[in-house]
Amino acid sequence: MDERVLTNQLLDDEQSLEGSLRPQRLADYIGQVSMKASLGVCMDAAKGRGEALDHAIFYGPPGLGKTTIAHIIAHEMGGNIRSTSGLVLTHAGDLAAILANIQPRDVLFIDEIHRLPPSAEEVLYPAMEDYQIDLVIGQGPSMRTMKLDLPPFTLIGATTRAGALTSPLRERFGLVYRLDFYRPEELQIIIARSAKLLGVYIHDDAAEEIGRRARGTPRIANRLIKRVRDFAEVKAQGQITHAVAQDALNWLGIDHAGFDEMDRKILLTIIEKFKGGPVGVEALAAAVHEEKATLEDVYEPFLLQSGYLDRTARGRQITTKALQHFNIPSQLFPQ
Ligand code: ADE
Repeated sequence: MDERVLTNQLLDDEQSLEGSLRPQRLADYIGQVSMKASLGVCMDAAKGRGEALDHAIFYGPPGLGKTTIAHIIAHEMGGNIRSTSGLVLTHAGDLAAILANIQPRDVLFIDEIHRLPPSAEEVLYPAMEDYQIDLVIGQGPSMRTMKLDLPPFTLIGATTRAGALTSPLRERFGLVYRLDFYRPEELQIIIARSAKLLGVYIHDDAAEEIGRRARGTPRIANRLIKRVRDFAEVKAQGQITHAVAQDALNWLGIDHAGFDEMDRKILLTIIEKFKGGPVGVEALAAAVHEEKATLEDVYEPFLLQSGYLDRTARGRQITTKALQHFNIPSQLFPQ
């Protein structure tokens, strides 16, 4: 087997920024209560039968813990995780090489699975259904295919766009979970836990403040705690009190609603350039110099869910809540 292919196509996410703060057990995973309960039962049942967990897909906005839960499943099921992404699996052969090396109870995690090319999806179908792949051996007239049996493994797919999955792929997942934004109280617990792991002292009301401003997203909460720690170490002898957290967040340009510069730019562009909307997503993306897909997948979900933006048939529209946030009289924008 070509090891070069494997090392190129598998992502080393142990070294990532978040890796060090990730919980390893389901019991330490905060939030997503119904998913956690369902997954716990399914994992216990699979373990009891000595089987691999059924293939699972997790969808939702970025940063909500899809990769984290894949690591937890591998750990709880006693296997290793092999991580890759639909973006790097450009050749079906690369995926076949990874599958050919899979060990019993391993988790194969494919991030951005909606980006898999059709040829790679074709490799996945028999692998998922029958634990088999068709290997192509040789070239030209001597080319032949050989069936290779795989050990029982679990495929875990993650996507920000459930709607972009093909139906044959979606139908082959026994478990389908949508991840929701976290409540501020849940983020507060994640922040307190991360602070402890980072060895930094944080007051409860400071963790609460950061949790409120983390856009419902653990990845953002963990990024903020690291930057607030930097600020506290340089400006406040390393102690994160409520006042220090507030100063640090203001210094980072994160406002009371948790908006960063781009969130404000999106909302203010709709207000100032498009008279409050409705405005089509293409025109809005061009006006804020951002890719349409990034706008739709990264920024909009939180603004929509928290009631600052409306999506109508004619485009994006500002809400009264957003106008209030910027202290703009709503009479100026009759809806
Ligand atoms: N880190 C990232 N996501 C988490 C979660 N849901 N619970 C605990 N820690 C996390």
